[in-house]
Amino acid sequence: MNVAVAGGGIVGLSIAWRLGQRGVPVTVFDKGPMGGEASWAGAGMLAPGGEILATSPIAGWALEARRMYPSYVRELEESSAARIDFQECGALDLAYSPEDWRALETRATHQAALGIPSEPLEPRDVLSLCPHIRTAGLIGARFYPGDAIVNPREIVAALCSICPKLGVSLVENHPVENLESLSSFDAVVVAAGAWSNRLGIGLPPVEPIKGHLIAYGQPLGKYRTILRHGHTYLLQRANGFLIAGSSEEHLGFDRSVDGQIVSDIAARAAFVVPSLAGEAPLESWTGLRPASDTPHIGAFGSGGRLFLAYGHYRNGILLAPLTARDLAAEISASFEKR
Ligand code: GLY
Repeated sequence: MNVAVAGGGIVGLSIAWRLGQRGVPVTVFDKGPMGGEASWAGAGMLAPGGEILATSPIAGWALEARRMYPSYVRELEESSAARIDFQECGALDLAYSPEDWRALETRATHQAALGIPSEPLEPRDVLSLCPHIRTAGLIGARFYPGDAIVNPREIVAALCSICPKLGVSLVENHPVENLESLSSFDAVVVAAGAWSNRLGIGLPPVEPIKGHLIAYGQPLGKYRTILRHGHTYLLQRANGFLIAGSSEEHLGFDRSVDGQIVSDIAARAAFVVPSLAGEAPLESWTGLRPASDTPHIGAFGSGGRLFLAYGHYRNGILLAPLTARDLAAEISASFEKR
């Protein structure tokens, strides 16, 4: 029994890894380098507190995936002998107006019912956590202790180093034009992010939603937590990069960087951290989030050999370990029944 995975992002590679651990022969195809699209672009926020606002199946998955992350990273580090930047640093949602504060309170009440804890902080306590933020007009913040960050590029590198040791073939620069071209495989996983429903007629729709990110060079360890204000977020990787985002644009597969949007994110970042006003971002880039009505994770259609793993929208990095665990189990179980 062999499996083809169309799409070598963090989701497809994690599925291949878990199947490889079960002794299943797997081939992962990607149209470019492994992890070269959304997994390369993603900031790496693992943040139910920032992303999960209402009751939905994703809420439960996000919390479970977040609980899985420490052991997922540890296992990857042990198997690959590489270090992965994973920081359980929490997040501060900042309020600079009474409207900000009311919106945070309302959100926190809904989230508490979902099992996402947060606590209100006075300006004094906010500043002791992050003295670099704007003080003028600061009303307070909510601290989300469960939010975290990871460097998705390091996860992809670790997966690419350990998958071949388990017999997983990684085939780069090999676009899968359609599912028929994979008919020699016993099972096929579609994990091609925003490109997924191009592989076959009748696959659930997915829309690319472009996001811009920018990065500043900052002293290592200057920011101890994620900072958020409205739709703006800032997080610092262990390599010093302070990443600020983001935007949402419905422009198909256009990945160009828009200078106006970069300036807007820079202005929003400098509102939160005034010293950034004097700095030019070192880098700016975009990625395409795969947006769907819900993440599609599981068997699809009546043939028993097609499985989906796409539509994770803003939470693909977070949901990768859970998607991989569940799909590898489902595929293995389907082989046992054949
Ligand atoms: N998860 C953050 C974003 O998609 O911008």
